Amino acid sequence: MTWAKSLKSRSSRKKIVLATSNPGKLREFQRCFKGLPFEFLSLRDIRGNGDVEEKGTTFLENARQKSVAYSLLSEYPTLAEDSGLEVDYLDGAPGIFSARFSDPGATDEKNIRRMLRLMKGVPWPGRRARFVCQLVLSQGGRVLKTCRGQVRGYIAQEKKGDLGFGYDPIFFYRPFGRTFGELRPETKNAVSHRGRALKKMRIFLLRSAGAVDKRT
Ligand code: IMP
Repeated sequence: MTWAKSLKSRSSRKKIVLATSNPGKLREFQRCFKGLPFEFLSLRDIRGNGDVEEKGTTFLENARQKSVAYSLLSEYPTLAEDSGLEVDYLDGAPGIFSARFSDPGATDEKNIRRMLRLMKGVPWPGRRARFVCQLVLSQGGRVLKTCRGQVRGYIAQEKKGDLGFGYDPIFFYRPFGRTFGELRPETKNAVSHRGRALKKMRIFLLRSAGAVDKRT
């Protein structure tokens, strides 16, 4: 039975595993999927302890590896993502290494400090950057859907705002004249790389379930 058929044929709410251990990402997933007719599980619910090693060279390869590997731990469709920041002046770095930019035991704070140090004195055009988010949904080791989102901005001269996570306080989004760290979650999600990718995935999930999205 295909996943779409199994979604329609069972009576209880269908389950989807959100395969991320990053609390910032998890909050954004849950916010963007609010109102969907599914029950969302975390890795802890399926005893998915331990990280899948990211061996890929692109966001898509890494997201795919995580999604496929975690989907083999349960019978449920499993959504994984890989995301990061690409900075023009740094030739696209840190990219897939965004989480571990400062060192293997990196924290958001240390990553930001390293970024601001490297970007010190760089004029605005060179501060251009983008966040990228790649989502992959798999079941039983088979990929069902991939969605990508991105958003362009600039690396700010200094930290501003304490909302969000990761590099949000130094990602300046020109249309709003603020950093992502200054934006309320709904405002960030409306324009962010993850918000855009999740919106596409939301539409796919609803179509698969034969439901209509009242928000789109
Ligand atoms: P990974 O996808 O878990 O390998 O890590 C992605 C890293 O990119 C995060 O740990 C953050 O440092 C950064 N990142 C990804 N998305 C965002 C975002 O929405 N805001 C701020 N930083 C982000």
